[in-house]
Parts: sequence; structure tokens; C-alpha cells
Amino acid sequence: MAVTGPIALFDSGEGGLTVLRHLVERFPRERFLYAADSSHFPYGEKSLSDVSRWFMAFLDFFTEQGARAVVIACNTATAAALTQAQTVSPVPVIGVIRAAVVQAAALTRNRRIGVLSTEATFRAALYPQELHAIDPRLQVVSKPCPILVAMVENGDIDGTHVEDRVHQCVDPVLGQGVDTLVLGCTHFPHMRAVFNRVVGDRAHIVDPGEEIARHLTSEIAMVSGPGILTPISAWTTGDAARFSTIATKLCPYIPMVTRRLSWHNDCLTYPG
Ligand code: DGL
Repeated sequence: MAVTGPIALFDSGEGGLTVLRHLVERFPRERFLYAADSSHFPYGEKSLSDVSRWFMAFLDFFTEQGARAVVIACNTATAAALTQAQTVSPVPVIGVIRAAVVQAAALTRNRRIGVLSTEATFRAALYPQELHAIDPRLQVVSKPCPILVAMVENGDIDGTHVEDRVHQCVDPVLGQGVDTLVLGCTHFPHMRAVFNRVVGDRAHIVDPGEEIARHLTSEIAMVSGPGILTPISAWTTGDAARFSTIATKLCPYIPMVTRRLSWHNDCLTYPG
């Protein structure tokens, strides 16, 4: 396949930047486009059918922008829309869940895996389903942690209050003997330093973004080799200045130019 057009990444907000971060580290010469449906954040509280409809509008937008592949850098949107998107999209669409479950199943020694996620991902139950498809003997302990999603979206990723909240999410799951913990919402790896402290050597931590970056070349042709990162074109349906302020705080080393998209009757419009 000819390597033309950017790789598009999608999330409800700032979470997908944890996937982008691994991609730009590995492929600094690539062109990336990032879009956030911030006006509908948090997706975790929405119905899967709403999330799917919104993502499909973004898929049209990415096609118009000439994207040559789309990474759904959002577990909730992956659970809601991946299958439909792959059926209709003219370019490859990659979700975050598959890479994470493959890595989790490879890492666990006691066959007990914890998954932290949004409410909607928890309800969709795609993690247990995909894990059981790999090995029906796996035991999956799932826990929604919406409070962490909200904190990250506000740029709140470290400190004692964050550590307390992470403990509240992690401890009951680790208490059930899991030896592998999936950060099943792309917002959570922004708190990776806190997760590392809280989890310690009690479990392996799986970050889907890291796994996607490791395996992307098996799915699509990527521009590789060292290089200087060109500014990422970012779009949000929310407030562009706010999105950009938080994104700079979360990923100061990723240059970004943010513009606004608007919703009109379930269609996205943007300045030409
Ligand atoms: N970052 C998203 C995910 O991976 C969604 C968070 C939200 O909007 O609730 O599920």
C-alpha cells in the first residue's frame, strides 16, 4: 500500500493522547491527525448506540481528511463501533481492545486478569468476551472507574488525591488475586506513574496504546526511522483552547494545532 495520508486517532477527549504518545515515539516521521468528541465526553456514561453513531460521523470526517488508517484510541468507542466501522470503512480501522487482550493473556501466569474501564466498556463486556475467545479458562475481574476518567480530562494526573482514587479502583481488583491489570480506558495511562506506585510488583500493567504501537506495522505500512515530529493536526467538538491547554499539560512534547469541529444534526461541520 502506498504510504500517503495521515493516521487518524479518535477519542472522546484527552485519553487517546496516551495512544498517540506511543505512536509518535515509535514513528516520529509519520503524519497523525487526532480528533476528540469532547462535547459528548464522557462516553462512558452514554449508550453504546449513541457512541457508535457519533464515531461513525468521525469516520466520515477522517475519510474526507484523506486518512489512510484509523485507530479508535478509545475503548468505549472500540466496544461500540469497531465491527460496524470495519465493515464500511474504505481504510483499515484498528481498535484498542484486541492488542490489549492478546498481551494480557500472554503475561498472566495464574489466568486471573483485571480490567479497569468506563461504565459503557464494562457493560459491553467485550474484554471478557475477547479474553475468553483466547482462553476460556481465564478469569476476568472487571471494574468501572469513571472518577479517574473525569480527573484525567481535567489534567489531574498525580498527587495524593489521585493516588487515593487509584487505590480505590485497583485494590479491590488486585484483592481478587489478579496478576495482570489492563488499563482498559485510554485516559488511565496518563496516570501511569501513579498506577506503577500503587500496583508495584503485585501485577503486570497492560497499556493498550503501547501494544498498538508495537503491532501497528503488522496491520499497515508505517513511515519509520528517526525524524523531527511535525505538529499534529488536532480537532475537537469542544473548546479548542481548553483542549489544547490540557493536551499540552498531559503531553508537553507533542506539538499540536487544535481546531474546532461542530455537531449539526449528527453531522460534523468544520471550517474549510
Ligand atoms: N478514553 C475512553 C476510553 O478508552 C473514553 C472515556 C470516556 O469518555 O468516558 O474508553
